[in-house]
Amino acid sequence: MYNRKLFFITSAFLTALIGTSAMAMMAASTFRTKGGHVAIIEQVTTKDLSAEAAVFHDAFVESYTKLPAIVEAVLKKHPTLEAFLTKAFEDEIADFASKKDGAYFLHAVIDGKVVAYMSFDVKDKEAYVRELAVSPQYQGIGLGKELGKTIFRIKPEITTVRGVTRRANLPALGSYKHLGLVESSVGHEGFDPSVYVGLEYTRK
Ligand SMILES: CC(C)(COP(=O)(O)OP(=O)(O)OC[C@H]1O[C@@H](n2cnc3c(N)ncnc32)[C@H](O)[C@@H]1OP(=O)(O)O)[C@@H](O)C(=O)NCCC(=O)NCCS
Repeated sequence: MYNRKLFFITSAFLTALIGTSAMAMMAASTFRTKGGHVAIIEQVTTKDLSAEAAVFHDAFVESYTKLPAIVEAVLKKHPTLEAFLTKAFEDEIADFASKKDGAYFLHAVIDGKVVAYMSFDVKDKEAYVRELAVSPQYQGIGLGKELGKTIFRIKPEITTVRGVTRRANLPALGSYKHLGLVESSVGHEGFDPSVYVGLEYTRK
């Protein structure tokens, strides 16, 4: 488990030692949610992503269970929804463990508990959001939006944020479009445009 007090002391020490530009990589911020919680948003520094995997799992089980077309599509290729989600998170675990170049892993913590997770890859001035998930009981209070904004805070040179979601994931799609993302041709490996839709946001 991580020790937040130690994190802040270490951050202050490192800021003094190496200056603020390098620290941009490690900045933590607090955010008051629409529900009145104080959330800490920071890069993941734990030794593994087990708490984040649980958030990912819970968020998608709850969301997809309400979207039968997605469950049906998933079950054509995987024995269970859980098996699919475990497999879907494998790349996250591998990239986190290998400290993949250009990969960022963020979470939001409320009352000492990880409640949201986002990972993204940076290349030049673009960020590609790989995963975004908020625990079901903490959805709709601004955490997804705040995590998205954090990309620009920790990488100010970013001008464009891209991502992909399932066309049938109407709540996520509605949320992203509400936030100003527009459909684009962005894809990922094995991208099937009949199933997935690319989205992007360009900073004005
Ligand atoms: C999709 C998800 C990441 C959004 O995160 P969130 O924390 O619940 O969203 P936020 O509370 O930050 O809301 C973001 C904005 O979208 C709006 N919004 C939410 N649902 C919406 C919908 N169905 N249609 C339109 N706008 C919507 C909110 O009002 C908010 O806008 P505002 O700040 O102007 O009020 C989260 O709900 C989630 O984890 N869902 C399950 C997993 C998933 O589908 N992940 C995405 C896969 S690509």
